Amino acid sequence: STILVLHGPNLNMLGTREPEVYGHETLADIDDRLKHQAAESGHHLLHLQSNAEYELIDRVHEARAEGVDFIIINPAAFTHTSVALRDAVLASDIPFIEVHLSNVHARESFRHHSYFSDIAEGVICGLGSQGYDFALQAALKRINR
Ligand code: DQA
Repeated sequence: STILVLHGPNLNMLGTREPEVYGHETLADIDDRLKHQAAESGHHLLHLQSNAEYELIDRVHEARAEGVDFIIINPAAFTHTSVALRDAVLASDIPFIEVHLSNVHARESFRHHSYFSDIAEGVICGLGSQGYDFALQAALKRINR
């Protein structure tokens, strides 16, 4: 099976971006670890980070055509703004888990609303990059079911 991991804007800055909020690991560290974990269970993991809304939307459209089985997405700031990315995910009909490194509920009130949470299989936030590992475990369990 194939799992797609999508990272939204500014997550390319992980490691140096507000490390007290987002940690010291880089995005490449996280993606490499997830790729390994998926491969160990005999699955294929693809990933994309983009600062451009349309690139994430186009990638979700492609995912449907490619037969991607599951999406793990941290929409970053688009979480709180993007009806367009929400609609793309809905159109793809691919189950997904929403991940945030920080506990968005303990931060500014504009981060409390997500355009994705009500249509997600599950939401993980506040556990740092470990949240991606938990999301992958859950995704693999669902795929193998
Ligand atoms: C984030 C939380 C968002 O509010 C923020 O805009 C981000 C990262 C997180 O992973 O904690 O860029 O999605």
